[in-house]
This record gives sequence, C-alpha cells and structure tokens, in this order.
Amino acid sequence: MKMRLAPEQDAVVHAEAGDIFVAAAAGSGKTRVLVARFVAAVLGEIPGAEACGVTDVLAVTFTDKAAGEIAERVRGSLLQEGKDAEARRLDQAWVSTIHGMCSKILRRYAFEAGLDPRFTVATQVEAGILEQEAFEEAARALMESDPGVEQLITDFGSMRVASMVSNAHRALRSMGRAPADLRTAALPSTSMLRDWQDAFAEIAAEYPRVGSTQTCHDGARAARARSDALGELRASADPQVAVRDALRVFASAAFQKRGSQDVKDLAESAKTLAATAQGALAQIPAGPYEQALVRVISAFDERYEALKTCRGVLDFEDLQLKTAELLETHPRVSAAYRAAFKLVMIDEFQDTNALQLRIAKALSSDDLLTVGDDKQSIYRFRHADVGVFRSLAESVPSIRVLRSNYRSHPDVIGAINEIFSDQTFFGDDFISLGAMREEESPYPWSEAEPRVQMLLTDSQGALADDKRAMEATTIAR
Ligand SMILES: Nc1ncnc2c1ncn2[C@@H]1O[C@H](COP(=O)(O)OP(=O)(O)OP(=O)(O)O)[C@@H](O)[C@H]1O
Ligand SMILES: [Mg+2]
Repeated sequence: MKMRLAPEQDAVVHAEAGDIFVAAAAGSGKTRVLVARFVAAVLGEIPGAEACGVTDVLAVTFTDKAAGEIAERVRGSLLQEGKDAEARRLDQAWVSTIHGMCSKILRRYAFEAGLDPRFTVATQVEAGILEQEAFEEAARALMESDPGVEQLITDFGSMRVASMVSNAHRALRSMGRAPADLRTAALPSTSMLRDWQDAFAEIAAEYPRVGSTQTCHDGARAARARSDALGELRASADPQVAVRDALRVFASAAFQKRGSQDVKDLAESAKTLAATAQGALAQIPAGPYEQALVRVISAFDERYEALKTCRGVLDFEDLQLKTAELLETHPRVSAAYRAAFKLVMIDEFQDTNALQLRIAKALSSDDLLTVGDDKQSIYRFRHADVGVFRSLAESVPSIRVLRSNYRSHPDVIGAINEIFSDQTFFGDDFISLGAMREEESPYPWSEAEPRVQMLLTDSQGALADDKRAMEATTIAR
C-alpha cells in the first residue's frame, strides 16, 4: 500500500528541488516526510530534478538506531514501488549518523586529509581516558612552572579544574575553534573606572534637584556612596580590596524608585550603570583564574593531540573537524561530493551544531532538507546547539510547519494544546497541534478513565537534582 500523506506533508515531499527547512512538533511525521522525499527522489517525482539512485542521496540523523530505521523505511517503500534493485543497494547508501558519514569520507580521502587510512575512532569512554591522561600530564608540568595555575588547582581542586578544562575544550572544538581563539574577558581600565565615577557623580549631583523628599535624600546618598567607592577603587594601591568594598556598596544600597518620574528615571540610569560597573569589576578577582585556566586548556590540548596521534585514533570531534577542513581546503573533494549528492537531508536537525552545519553545507548544492523540532533539543548533548537551528530558521526564505500529530491520542493532544498555549508561562511560539491519529489503541481503555493526568509538585527553591527526585517520586506513587 502506498504511503498516504497529508497535504502539508505532501507539499514538502514533492516540493521543487531546493533548500527546505521544516520545523514541526513531535509525531508530526517529520521523519516520514524525509523518507518519502528520499523515495520520491529515486522515483523521479521531485519537480526540477531527475530520478536518482539510492547512493545519490545523503541522509543524516542523530543515532545509529534512527539511521537504521530510516534505511528500513526507505527499503520498504522502494520494494512496494517495485524498485527491487534500488532497495537492494541501500546497504551502500549514505544513510548514517554524521560521525559515520565523516568516517567514510575521511577513509576515502585519508591522504588528502593527512591521515593514516587505518585510523580507529575512539569511543566516548576511550576518549575520556585519553583526556584524563592529557590533563594529568599538563597539570603536573604547569604546577611546577606556573604559580597562577598552581593557585587555580589549589583553590578549585584538580577534579573541578579537569572537568572545566574538558568541557571548555570540547565546546571549543564543536564550534570549530582552537584554544588560541580563547579570549579572556577584558579587565576594566583606569579610564573606564574614571568614566563610571564621573557618571555616578553626575547622578549624585542630580538627586537633590529632583525633589526634596526623604526618598530623594536617600537616593542621593546612595549615589554618592557609589561614586566614592569608585573613587577609592581608582586611588587604592590594592585594587582587589577596593573592588570588594565597591561591590559591597553596590549590592547593599538600594535605589529608591518612589517619587516623581524624574526620580524613577534617575534610579533607572543609576541601576544600569551599577550593573555594568559591577559586571566589569567582578572580572578583577576572577581574571587571574581565567587566564590560568586558558593556559591549562592550551597545554591540555597539546598533550591530548599528541596522545591521539601516537595511538592513531580520532575522537568524534576530530571526525567532524577533519572532514570540515578536508572539504574546505580541497575544493575538488567537496565538488565531487556536491556533484554526487542530488539530495542532502538532515533529520533531528535541532541537535546539530555549527560545525556539522558547515559540513552539510559543503556537501550540498542548494538542495538541503533539514527537519527538526527545537522543543526536542537534547540540551547541549554532544554540544548540540539549538541556536544553529534557530538562526537557520531566521535566515531561510520560508519555513514549512507540520501541525498535525499522528502519534498520540486526541485526548493527549488536547491537553498539550491547552497547557502550552498559555503564553504567560510558555511564550508565544507554541504550535498548536492537530490530533490526527485514527487507528484504535491496541490497549483496552475504560471510557470513564482519563487519559491525561497532570501531576504538580511544589519544588520551589529546591535544587535541580532534588526537583528531579521529587518528580520521580510523584510519578511513581
Ligand atoms: N499522514 C500520516 N498518516 C498516518 N500516519 C502518519 C502520517 N504521518 C505520520 N504518521 C505516523 O505518525 C508517527 C510519527 O511519525 P514520524 O516518526 O515521522 O514523526 P516525527 O515528526 O519524525 O516524530 P519525532 O519528533 O518523534 O521525530 C509514525 O508512526 C508515522 O507512521
Ligand atoms: Mg522523527
């Protein structure tokens, strides 16, 4: 039986060849649409494109399991269409995770990529062990020669520094950046301090003029105290001491907002100024730590790279970095792939990061289908960056939205729509879902029993871990 598609799905499946961005909610048929467009491309049903073979399509998703499911669904559809030969060739098709795809490209072009074609790929666990070794070597060497690093490790503990270094290092690489690109926050200069002091002095002078109530006198006093604090900071021999004093004044003196509009305006500008000054001043005590951390990250990076080279392994990040580099520095290679891939598709695109998008763009020529749901982003997992999804959503000429849900019972959809359409709590970007599931549930369900139960837990003030435990206890009850 041929796949029946809803009109909004069919419009994407048979859209003219070109870049398409689909943003749609869970269970709205995103993966189904991707599979159907794959099949339509093989059958020659995409306007403006000729029929292609299964190996001319690149389909990327997040996990091996999802890739296997996509391949199975394409195979099933091709068999139904009588395309047995193409269905058999699916084993050679480019349906995989981004890492699987990168491995395949790097092995094929190992020489151009400067790699030994026998490279192995480290699992997350193996990479973690190498990281630990690299950190220990880097920390040991720096502890002897760098007092700043010694202070950092003494104050924060080796475990915490190791985890900060590894997180920062991975995040940096997932953006395609190197430790040399790290910049520490600028410390406030003397002229910045002078400007803030002058601005506070002006505010202090303004207060007595806007009224004569007690509130205004208090306000004037508070503003003057801030100005003085900054003055002392500028004059003090030990900026650390002065900064701590200044921050205390900023934190303790509350600006009074009661009174005329002038008083309110003045309080507002004083507050903005205090926030800017406070943020920058807070950098002074943090600065040396931050700079030491950057030095540890650089030393760690050097050792981690050396360990991997010595063992002939690449980690997941290398696969992507080296592929992006290969494609960008060898135009012949990327041109060959662009010519070979008639269609490039990415499922679960909300979990893509900037580096992965660079690779996808280098491999596709104006025929990139991305489908995803920013509400299902696995926050920061493998440095996925939902910002990439959102910024592409803003830059594409048109977004296709799928509004129907085929997976859940209408009662469930009704409850979800009711709850999440509350703009006060959830903002205004919720897409209300249409309940489209038709087939009867295989589970017997008494009419009297509700399908949806909302459990509320009072977790105000609790820590995130405690909140999770409270939620689990409530559900288990
Ligand atoms: N037009 C349709 N008619 C009937 N069933 C459909 C239709 N479209 C999708 N479905 C079914 O709805 C379910 C969800 O579809 P699919 O997995 O493609 O959604 P999805 O948007 O990719 O979900 P997720 O957000 O979880 O990845 C599947 O069982 C699919 O077969
Ligand atoms: Mg899906």
